Amino acid sequence: MKKILVTGAFGQIGSELVPALYKEYGKENVVSMGHSTISLGFDGTLEKADARDKEALRGIIKKYDIDTVYHLVSLLSAKGEVDPSLTWDINMNGLKNVLDLGVEFKLKIYWPSSIAAFGPTTPREDTPQHTVLEPTTMYGVTKTAGEGLCRYYNVKYGLDVRSLRYPGIISWKTPPGGGTTDYAVAIFYEGIKTGKYECFVGPDTMLPMMYIDDAIRATVELMKADLKTDSWNSYNLSAVSFTAKELEEELRKYLPDLTITYKPDHRQKIADSWPKSIDDSQARKDWGWKHEYGLSEITKVMVENLKKVLA
Ligand code: SER
Repeated sequence: MKKILVTGAFGQIGSELVPALYKEYGKENVVSMGHSTISLGFDGTLEKADARDKEALRGIIKKYDIDTVYHLVSLLSAKGEVDPSLTWDINMNGLKNVLDLGVEFKLKIYWPSSIAAFGPTTPREDTPQHTVLEPTTMYGVTKTAGEGLCRYYNVKYGLDVRSLRYPGIISWKTPPGGGTTDYAVAIFYEGIKTGKYECFVGPDTMLPMMYIDDAIRATVELMKADLKTDSWNSYNLSAVSFTAKELEEELRKYLPDLTITYKPDHRQKIADSWPKSIDDSQARKDWGWKHEYGLSEITKVMVENLKKVLA
């Protein structure tokens, strides 16, 4: 039976991946690790440790006889610009530790990359799998470097490490947490709570987005897939692209009195450096990826859930 460790378990992805892994592999086989917060009502096995502490990680891997790690620890793009050195430290040294321990304990590893691996010199429409990777945020730099590191460990040591380039993830269980794409989450929180939202990117800003359930399913499916490719990829992954204005209009169907103002700040530049849409045909071909949620489905499920949670 699999013995799974999830690092960064209490962040946006982790707090929904952990319950999905409970369902798939049994609660008794999943250990959730956080560096400060360990809460969110998980009633499974919890560990507090910093992924930069290799000995602490080694101890947890030995203690539970771990064979699979989902390494989700990361500072996101906007937050990452506040302290670029810390972002490098957390994002890269945590990953390097996990990869080294992966070789030592023959682990299977999942690590998320992002659309932030791309930059202003990348073709912005239908961004291909293989293209220019010249990011201009520290978060993006750690994603590009992280992909390189994963590829290296795969080629050099035969490590089974798998990766997806997530688009902006829209979810309701955790509040927006320092990402550039988080306006597409915050608009729901603020819209439902106050009827108003001041959006930090302009109305025409278009980015690739995905509902959390699709992202979690993609992650679980990729890890289960019998991958038949010879070259290592962090897979482009796509669901839907829409502008901030299109999201506003869709949300207004549920909140007719909604007032959205647009006040672009420094995050506009980050958004403008990322793709508008992604070509994920390789993921669709290699392991059968297929998304389920479009803009109207995402809006409906976000409003339904957040209305309950924020009531
Ligand atoms: N959601 C992330 C961010 O905005 C992108 O990977 O930082």
